[in-house]
Amino acid sequence: MTDRPTLVLLPGLICDAALWRHQLDTLTDIAEVTMPDLTRFDDVRVAARTLLSELPPSFALAGLSMGGYVAFEIMRQAPGRVSRLALLDTSARADTPEGQARRRGSIEAAAKPDFDLAAVTQHMLPMFLTEAGRENRALVEAVTAMAVRYGREAFGRSQALMLSRPDSRPDLPQIGCPTLVLCGRQDVFTTPELHLEIARGIPNSVLVYVEDAGHLSPMEQPHAVSAAMRYWLNAR
Ligand code: MLT
Repeated sequence: MTDRPTLVLLPGLICDAALWRHQLDTLTDIAEVTMPDLTRFDDVRVAARTLLSELPPSFALAGLSMGGYVAFEIMRQAPGRVSRLALLDTSARADTPEGQARRRGSIEAAAKPDFDLAAVTQHMLPMFLTEAGRENRALVEAVTAMAVRYGREAFGRSQALMLSRPDSRPDLPQIGCPTLVLCGRQDVFTTPELHLEIARGIPNSVLVYVEDAGHLSPMEQPHAVSAAMRYWLNAR
């Protein structure tokens, strides 16, 4: 038995535990940290419903990007079970029609056996990392290795999951728990403005911009992200 709260970490597309390595390693003194597998799912509502059937009655919830999309759905389905919410490098918006078309193209491409996710990830690096991050060979290798582990089939399912999500903006005022909204200052994919929009919509929220970090802020600035999450978990 433990009196530490459960902290559930939901990763983004092409990500696994390596995204949350520092948080998984350092927040264990104040939380029981767990990272469910999101690659099973191709529908956001099913993902939330299944996770809710697996998770304890009450938990703190942090989601990055796609993980944030799933977190919004969990808040719609079971707001009373989430004691604290952290939304990292994500967006409350649904895809635009152009974004939906791009996703359908990605799903089709990922269905072909010659789809090379490592090569696709190289093209996506400017959306994921800062310029300095892209010059950090160990970091680029860590991101590429995650994508290789993720695999094209999971990539296709995740694109379908993200395509299935609704606009979460109308739900923001109903989120009542203490909420951390965090993004890398240089996140060009889900920008600081999108996080201002989320923070303005959620009454009990704190907005943190992490300097020198892009979309994968927990990998580029692991100490800063863990510090913000520690503060969020401890705050009364
Ligand atoms: C992610 O980082 O989880 C995805 O790239 C987000 C998205 O495609 O909307």
